[in-house]
Order: sequence, then C-alpha cells, then structure tokens
Amino acid sequence: MAIERVISGMRPTGNLHLGHFNGVLKNWINLQHEFECLFFVADWHALTTHYDSPEIIEENVWEMVVDWIAAGVDPATATIFIQSKVPEHAELHTLLSMITPLGWLERVPTYKDQQEKLSSKDLSTYGFLGYPLLQSADILIYKATQVPVGEDQIPHIEFTREIARRFNHLYGKETGFVEKAEEAIKKLGSKKSSLYMEMKTAYQENGDQEALDSAQVLIEEHQGLSLGDKERLLGFLEGGGKMILVEPEYKLAPASKMIGLDGQKMSKSYNNTIALRESPESVEKKIKTMPTDPARIRRNDPGNPNHCPVWQLHQVYSSDEVKAWVETGCKEAKIGCIECKQPVIDAINKELKPIQERAFHYIEDPDLVKNIVAEGCEKAKKLARETMREVREAMGLNY
Ligand code: TRP
Ligand code: SF4
Repeated sequence: MAIERVISGMRPTGNLHLGHFNGVLKNWINLQHEFECLFFVADWHALTTHYDSPEIIEENVWEMVVDWIAAGVDPATATIFIQSKVPEHAELHTLLSMITPLGWLERVPTYKDQQEKLSSKDLSTYGFLGYPLLQSADILIYKATQVPVGEDQIPHIEFTREIARRFNHLYGKETGFVEKAEEAIKKLGSKKSSLYMEMKTAYQENGDQEALDSAQVLIEEHQGLSLGDKERLLGFLEGGGKMILVEPEYKLAPASKMIGLDGQKMSKSYNNTIALRESPESVEKKIKTMPTDPARIRRNDPGNPNHCPVWQLHQVYSSDEVKAWVETGCKEAKIGCIECKQPVIDAINKELKPIQERAFHYIEDPDLVKNIVAEGCEKAKKLARETMREVREAMGLNY
C-alpha cells in the first residue's frame, strides 16, 4: 500500500542489553527515518507472563523508554507510547475475540513452546492464550502495514493477517456494497476511474500484483475521497467487501550476530548479557572473564577463533584489520587472549558511552520522558479512536 506505517512493541520485563540494541533498536532507528513509526511499551503483554510480579514491569517501563531514546529512537520522528495508556487496544481485543476460533490460538507455536520453556510459571491462563490476539489488536488498531519483529514472532503476524481477513470478510459486507463501490469509482473522475477498472481486472483476472499496488497508490493519493469510500475501493479491488482492517506484513530485522558472554544468544534468561547501562569497569570484567577456545590453555598454545565466542564479538565490533590480527595472532599463538579481548572491550565501551550519557540526561529529568510519552499516547489514541469508530460501526455497535 502507498502509505507505510510501522508498529512494534517491546515487553518491559528487564534491563535492555546489547542484544536488544544490535537486534531490535538499530533496526527501529533505521526505520524511523524512512516510515511513520509507532513504538510502544507492551506492558499488558508483560503481564501475561509476569502477573505474579507486576513490580518488575513497573520498574522497567520508564527505564526502557529512557534506553530507547538514549539509543537513538527519536521522539521527534517516532511516536513512543505505552500500551495500557491506550485502552482502545483492549476494546479491539475484546471485539476480535468474538470471531477468533480457539483452535487458531491453540495452534500458535509460541503458546505451547513458552508454556514448556517457562514451566515454573502457570501459563494456562486466558490472558496467555490470548497473547497473539492482543498483539493483533495492537497492530490492527493502527492499520499498520509493517511490523519489524524477530523470527519467533512471525506466526503472530501471520495470525494477525488471518484475523484481519476474517474480520473484513464478516463485517466488510455492508448492504449495497457493489453499488456504493461503483458510486465511489465515479468520484475518481473519468480518467482515473477507467485506470482503476483496468488495474482491478488485471489483478483479479491475471493476479497482476503490480496492478494491485498501483491501484492502491491511486486510491491512497486521490484527494477528496471519504474514508468509507477509500475502504470500499480498496476492498473492491481485491474482490471482497470493505477493507476495514489492514493485513500487515512482517519486516524481519537483519540477522543480528550478537552473542552473549557464554557464546549462546544474548538473553536475560541465559544470564549472559551486557546491559546498555553497564559500567565500563563491568564491561571490562565481563569480557575478561569470557571463556575462549578451550584448546588455548597456555599462552603459546595455538587456538582457533571459530571455537571462541570472543571471535563472534569481533565480528560485530572489529575492523577487518583487527580481525586479521586476531586470526593470525590466535592461530599462531602470537597474542594472548586478554590482549585479543581489549579491542572488543574498547569498542563496546565506546558504543555505550554516548548512550549512557543521554540516558543520564533523561534520568536526571524524569519529566522529559513523561512528557514525550504523554504526547505519544495522545497521538496513538487519536489513530486508535478513529479505527475503533469504524470497527464499532462495522459490527453494529454505533448506538
Ligand atoms: N510479542 C512481542 C515480543 O515479544 C511484543 C509485542 C506486543 C509486539 N505487541 C506487539 C511486537 C505488536 C510487534 C507488534 O517481542
Ligand atoms: Fe579467542 Fe582471541 Fe583467545 Fe583466540 S586469541 S582464543 S580468538 S580470545
């Protein structure tokens, strides 16, 4: 579609670390320059797994927003808000729950996976089963077209697409739809309306995706169509009823090679992280105590970087020159492991320094962040309210 809108959320369940920064935040920061972006704190989603320790969420909401901004998410460009401050998400979640088959939720792979992984918690709750549907509401309420997520979240986006399709199928068929669509086509003017019809035929008869895309652009960019007519024309293109909810696409973050201190993926649950707020001394200590190639017992034992997690960090943080120095130095036992780790320590501290300085500025003055979030919530609410008006109307609830 012509106008891209990006949405993503993060659960406030702990300190942000370099895994978040390299995997998620850098991606958000790039997207904000290209698209309209909404980023939010998914505090309700955090409650699905942390209902017995809400204090963890409370502590992390503001810290997380500070870290986002300190890392480079720009509140002047992106809309930053908190899920629970826009209760329309919950209303849409309730309405969508009416049309969500239980089997669809039970089949989402994260449902069983997470229950097994977090087996110390009782996750046989209504809220946890509904996790993907709440996520669908988060996305659909903004008619977002793109959702940057990690690979594990793909089933949730696919689920969201199915829910949107089902909703449009059930509620997009107003009486007299075809007549109304035909009236709307006339409003495009004679030139554009024949173009629209040509592209519609090209898509419906030959599956011409480009024709569909161009027709969508044509409608989006045409001035003076009411929202209802826009939806009719978009829906009519694809043969169905009104397209009230928009099927989003996922945008996979570029694969992040960020490994943790033990060589596994960096994750809070493995206790192998470097926090964005980690002090330089602590970074140094953590890297210096990282395991290396077990074959290098003594300084003059040759090693193999491919067997060493420090090498993975060099992949993220070092120039080709430094990497070449590590490769020969390690294989020919010309450098010691402590020596080899120093450029990584320096690079991480260099990356963290400006982030920490900015974070400090916001910690000193909490009102700054509160105001940014209040403004973001207002903007989000405006968009959410608009969609809810249409959803209520489509479901016959506009009394
Ligand atoms: N489930 C996402 C995660 O764990 C967080 C999330 C909640 C989200 N709502 C969202 C992400 C909407 C993208 C869009 O990472
Ligand atoms: Fe790892 Fe570097 Fe030591 Fe080689 S020299 S084992 S790459 S830390």
